[in-house]
Amino acid sequence: MKILGIETSCDETAAAVVLDGHTLLSNVVASSMDLHAKYGGVVPEIAARSHIESITPVIEQALTEAFQTEDTSLKIEDGKNKKPNSTFHLPPSKFDPWDQIDGIAVTCGAGLGGSLLVGVLTARTLAIIHKKPLYAVNHVEGHLYASFLTNTSLPDYTLPVNAPQFPVLGLIVSGGHSQLVYFRDHFDYDLLGQTKDDAIGEAFDKVAKILGIPYPGGPSVSKMALDGDPRKYTLPKAKMPGKYDFSFSGLKTAVLRLAQKECGKLHDFPSTKLSALLSDAQKADISASFQRVAIETVVDKTVLAFEQFQPKTVIIGGGVASNTELRAQLTARLPLQILYTDPKLCTDNGAMIAALGCFKMKLDQQVADPYNLVISPNLSM
Ligand code: KG4
Ligand code: ZN
Repeated sequence: MKILGIETSCDETAAAVVLDGHTLLSNVVASSMDLHAKYGGVVPEIAARSHIESITPVIEQALTEAFQTEDTSLKIEDGKNKKPNSTFHLPPSKFDPWDQIDGIAVTCGAGLGGSLLVGVLTARTLAIIHKKPLYAVNHVEGHLYASFLTNTSLPDYTLPVNAPQFPVLGLIVSGGHSQLVYFRDHFDYDLLGQTKDDAIGEAFDKVAKILGIPYPGGPSVSKMALDGDPRKYTLPKAKMPGKYDFSFSGLKTAVLRLAQKECGKLHDFPSTKLSALLSDAQKADISASFQRVAIETVVDKTVLAFEQFQPKTVIIGGGVASNTELRAQLTARLPLQILYTDPKLCTDNGAMIAALGCFKMKLDQQVADPYNLVISPNLSM
């Protein structure tokens, strides 16, 4: 079973083809991140316009790359260890990749309205034209399904050797979400807790803005932190009434107050002027201290949930899942091997959507009506 996954919830226009939920046949991502960099965050109108420009070529490329092998049947039966080849087995004129596709999965929420609309309307149109079943996917749930991908012949991917075994504890840490979820099985889960204000990735992005280092903030702050002392400053960890809930807005404000104090300025001093007054050493120490506390916050609760629920597998999804400090702390504090996926599958991509789509089809989950599927910008798990 081969599913085309389409993802346009934020600033990445992405499409991928996945076989049977475990084998990645293609993964194409076009990001409009560069266009947003000078604003220090995603501008919804720019993201939506850019999806319109990119969606057709991205899908075409994903379909072409998925079936770009001399012996298509071989690659489709076993995606492992087959060398991609640029010649089609059938003459290109006779080969229609759509004959190979069994269904389409698309992100319908959560995300930016204008961005989601482009992906959903494209998927609806393709489902009608090519007569394929359509599956609506929750983006946040999708992030965890990147960890189910264990095979690929695509170059430069490091995937876990084994697929997750239920029960699974899932931690989603992205620019829009911070959630802990306990899965008894596919589509049978409880949301244990989530952030009550900013997401952890959003906190990284906002701290980067205060420090005047490039967007997206996660990779910049973690790079800067390499030269800093993670214990130089004491920053607060939020105490939440919900056992598994998170909060990051207080931590972000504490970083702002710390930066103002380090510069000898009062609370009303504009945050945009601080970075010019901070030395590289101060920025490195603030980055390292912030990162330690932000990561400890999610790791503390993941360890707590692990102890209570005793899952067979722990998986992590979302852009922050590629953070090396997070991986180091989890590895040190959990008594099992964690299935870390390739960093390219942590940030937004179509592969995770296609993987979840495969399980929806396999397990007879509800098919979406291609004439009526609507977007759900505030969809929760
Ligand atoms: O999953 P994603 O691509 O988009 C959302 O669904 O939100 O996550 C993007 C977020 C951004 O906030 C980015 O700063 C953060 O993930 N991020 C990181 C790292 N790489 C990306 N945060 C910390 N460390 C990283 N290495
Ligand atoms: Zn995401």
